Amino acid sequence: MATYKIVQVGDPVLRRRASELTREELATPAIQELIARMRDTMRDAPGVGLAAPQIGESLQLVVIEDPPRLHAGLSPEQLAERERAAVPFHVLVNPRLSAVGDEVVEAYEGCLSFSGFMMIVPRWRSVRVEALDEHGAPIVKTASGWYARILQHEVDHLRGIVCCDRMDPRTLTTHDNQARHWRNLTIAEVHATLGPMPADDGSGS
Ligand code: CO
Repeated sequence: MATYKIVQVGDPVLRRRASELTREELATPAIQELIARMRDTMRDAPGVGLAAPQIGESLQLVVIEDPPRLHAGLSPEQLAERERAAVPFHVLVNPRLSAVGDEVVEAYEGCLSFSGFMMIVPRWRSVRVEALDEHGAPIVKTASGWYARILQHEVDHLRGIVCCDRMDPRTLTTHDNQARHWRNLTIAEVHATLGPMPADDGSGS
């Protein structure tokens, strides 16, 4: 199956509110083919989620999958810190997301549409999502930890929000530099190392 080219940040399609899909539209071969190609594009990238605007289609459709093979580079401690566990492939159409509780957790995340970079993004620890599945059946997902992060990241894409909008800006890093300097630190250690934003002292530069 052919894969799609993934749109990069700066493309206006990533800044639009995506259109909802009707059950009739969802049942068409064109949309079912789109879902299959989005799945293959996500697996090929590889990524743990992909929203339709990221392949240039302004539709409220996301695919998610966090298979064990993507956890190979993480220690059991790192998986536990992120509350990351395997999530099987699934599709969300017209999702509505709400926070469960008010706990916020921080972690480095990246985006296939912000290629080569990572950043610390605060997210709700737990969320609830109401959506349709790929057959048009209503579903409800409740999630904590990494899966909740994926859900928030992907639903943001359908609202024209990219993760850099929500990042702690001083934590922005290339993938290579994240591996070299930050990967083995806790989030608290990262903040302690970076320090606060220096005050503008008016010196010009
Ligand atoms: Co993304």
